[in-house]
Amino acid sequence: IPNKVDAICCIGAGYVGGPTMAVIAKQCPHLKVKVVDVNKDRIAAWNDKCLDNLPIYEPGLSEVISETRGRNLFFSTDISKAIQESQMIFISVNTPTKTYGVGRGMAADLKFVELCARQIAELANEDKIIVEKSTLPVRTAQSIKQILSAYQNGCQFRVLSNPEFLAEGTAISDLLNADRVLIGSEDDELGKRAEEALVDIYSHWIPKERIIRTRIWSSELSKLTANAFLAQRVSSINAISALCEQTGADVDEVAHAIGMDSRIGSKFLKSSVGFGGSCFQKDILNLVYLCRHFNLPEVADYWEQVVHLNDYQKHRFSKKIIDTLFNTVSGKKIAFLGWAFKKNTNDTRESAAIYIADELLQDRAEIHIYDPQVSEEKIFSDLEFLQNNRREYHLNNTSRFESIKMDRIRKLVHVHSDPYAAMHKAHAIAVLTEWDEFKTYDWQRIYKDMLKPAFTFDGRNILSKKMLDEIGFETYNIGKGE
Ligand code: NAD
Ligand code: UGA
Repeated sequence: IPNKVDAICCIGAGYVGGPTMAVIAKQCPHLKVKVVDVNKDRIAAWNDKCLDNLPIYEPGLSEVISETRGRNLFFSTDISKAIQESQMIFISVNTPTKTYGVGRGMAADLKFVELCARQIAELANEDKIIVEKSTLPVRTAQSIKQILSAYQNGCQFRVLSNPEFLAEGTAISDLLNADRVLIGSEDDELGKRAEEALVDIYSHWIPKERIIRTRIWSSELSKLTANAFLAQRVSSINAISALCEQTGADVDEVAHAIGMDSRIGSKFLKSSVGFGGSCFQKDILNLVYLCRHFNLPEVADYWEQVVHLNDYQKHRFSKKIIDTLFNTVSGKKIAFLGWAFKKNTNDTRESAAIYIADELLQDRAEIHIYDPQVSEEKIFSDLEFLQNNRREYHLNNTSRFESIKMDRIRKLVHVHSDPYAAMHKAHAIAVLTEWDEFKTYDWQRIYKDMLKPAFTFDGRNILSKKMLDEIGFETYNIGKGE
């Protein structure tokens, strides 16, 4: 195992690989950091002179890139060279839910991780430390190890688990001020040496007491568990939002009241149109799959309910729109404010907006979308992906939906770069992402320009209901009973 680490690389230049390595390069100027990917366009975008063209949008990212790129941070498609030059290799490739075969719709697809392990084993010319950065099912390190040792090229490998806890939209500050860094290692001397090498890197900016060292299986399982607990909080408060609407309670007041109990805590209790993002659903389904695999059906059912409730919340919102608009949205213009799965990101994976659009399109709505960061191309590709993968991704209530042809979707869905144009002559507005700029719009002007009655459906509870009511809007908010 290398005694000294001065060159590292990361396979996978995505939402995790890019920002994580940029921050390591910033904090460790003595390290040469290379980020590699098979996707040429993505690497070209990371290398683009114009920082507005970076492949992902994250507050503070362009500053870190401008400080480090070309100094000790490099982006490249030459994966082989990076593997050979580096003593430590992070694997940060995507691990999506399988869409085929055994475990389809539930298990994590590990084919990209396996490919990385094979490539490392084939190319390695000296001992290497392999770091699992991707979110992986518990005991994946075992499979990686098995592949690495099968090549018998005379090199020693040690696998570490170092899951990432950053959230999109706050990635840079999460990385710079991490609550904790988790490192799981093998319980032998070489394993401990590998662990020490990674602790050395993080120690440049993370206080020692925040670096947790565990067994490798605990580290792998902690990542799935952390996401399951976070998602469970959102589903729990969303479940209560439905009851609030029936009883005249206000979900934000309830969340505030329970959050003041330090045992519960105030974070992650914001009721919404449903959680999205590439990870919560994928990681819970992965956990559910693991539980079934280990013959723990009660545990599996318990966690699966978090995803069911999230589907229910998205469905409840779409149904509310249709019911309120006199039981049909056919031919009606519905404006969407927001498409990203949360504010301050251009990521749309599993965004609730995609599912709301789909359900309204089933009822033949015309949808006009504005999002400050998401491109038209991305929106259409999200809708197309859903049409082709609906059954795998829905646990309940939408399998009865028909697939809609793309040329029809292109007729019904319009993407705008001006929010006022999106809302012009609309029957209703749905707020789907909590972008701050939505609060600053001229709501008097929007009201005048809409068909009457003018409906708003605030899926994020960010607009002032009092202000909208006073202007004359018919308002619906998540979890606010009358
Ligand atoms: P991503 O899709 O944005 O990036 C993954 C990249 O890996 C892609 O650019 C892809 O081209 C590349 N890739 C795939 N196979 C490759 C191969 N064999 N060789 C080289 N490159 C390859 O994914 P992401 O959002 O960065 O997530 C990566 C992992 O991190 C996942 O396991 C995810 O669960 C986990 N994670 C994500 C977040 C998040 O906020 N997005 C946070 C924590 C953990
Ligand atoms: C989440 C976790 O917060 C990270 O710790 C983890 O590293 C990451 O998943 C991952 O493994 O990918 P992320 O999905 O980027 O991060 O964003 P979150 O802030 O967790 O939001 C997820 C979804 O839940 C969003 O759609 C958000 O709008 C929603 N949410 C969040 C709520 O509806 N209410 C809340 O109170 C919080």
